[in-house]
Amino acid sequence: MRRILSASLLRHFSLFGRIPLCRIGPTVQKRSPFYLNFCNKTTSNGGDMDLSNMRKKYKGDEECFEESQLVSLDPIKEFGNWFDKATKCPEIGEANAMCIATASKDGRPSARMVLLKGYSHEGFRFFTNYESRKGTELESNPYACLVFYWEPLNRQIRIEGSVERIPYQSSCDYFHSRPKSSQIGAVVSRQSTPVPNRDYLRQKNAELEEKYKDTEVPMPDYWGGYMVKPHLIEFWQGQTNRLHDRIVFTKLKDGEKLGEFQHEAEGGWVYQRLSP
Ligand SMILES: Cc1cc2nc3c(=O)[nH]c(=O)nc-3n(C[C@H](O)[C@H](O)[C@H](O)COP(=O)(O)O)c2cc1C
Repeated sequence: MRRILSASLLRHFSLFGRIPLCRIGPTVQKRSPFYLNFCNKTTSNGGDMDLSNMRKKYKGDEECFEESQLVSLDPIKEFGNWFDKATKCPEIGEANAMCIATASKDGRPSARMVLLKGYSHEGFRFFTNYESRKGTELESNPYACLVFYWEPLNRQIRIEGSVERIPYQSSCDYFHSRPKSSQIGAVVSRQSTPVPNRDYLRQKNAELEEKYKDTEVPMPDYWGGYMVKPHLIEFWQGQTNRLHDRIVFTKLKDGEKLGEFQHEAEGGWVYQRLSP
């Protein structure tokens, strides 16, 4: 199975068109009084914000996630099932937004959001600047952890794996499938490096728009895709009583035997339930 998460999936969603939760009238009505209370609070006076009461209800035990509800013992197919549900959930604006954590060579972590642009049995694909902070970290420490959190579904998926650059041609194909303004944006931005001000970027953008007015924008060699090749995929569903469901798939290493609570899955994977 190979899924391409095309720009069309996202065409209805604007990152910049989002309204902060507190200001959405109808949404507020669905929220607990705590949210209203919280939204009226501010730290601008430098005071301590006590968030100890900030919790919401997840699912009841009758809606728990049991092993028998796995649609597949192939975790990529199971991911597909959860992902499809997330894309169909109207309250989820960008189902393919995920947090990716990387670490420097000496193990100092950093994390940020990126967009998943495809997945298959090969792995999970995203695009970025190879010279960005994450790119630099991945070049020296090629492991990453991805986290999706779909709040309206009370679901989280964690994926851990090794990371490789995807082939140059695949990056090129994707680069040129993007709107021209995004292609120019990728050339303008030496991601994660300091710039004097916003005007500097505006001016550079205008220069490049003029330069590539009638020609294709060449993909910069510092831009491209990565594939996260999973060795762990955890499916988490929140329960109100905090007995959350956690089913984790891992790959058995050569010669490794099934653990006491581990079950055989498909494609060299095994799974087990973890304590929440
Ligand atoms: C929802 C969302 C999606 C994003 N998607 C991407 C992406 O696909 N690729 C990317 O390089 N940055 C993306 N960004 C910006 C990154 O979060 C980050 O600011 C940037 O990649 C620089 O990160 P770094 O300095 O840690 O490398 C996205 C940000 C958000 C909030």
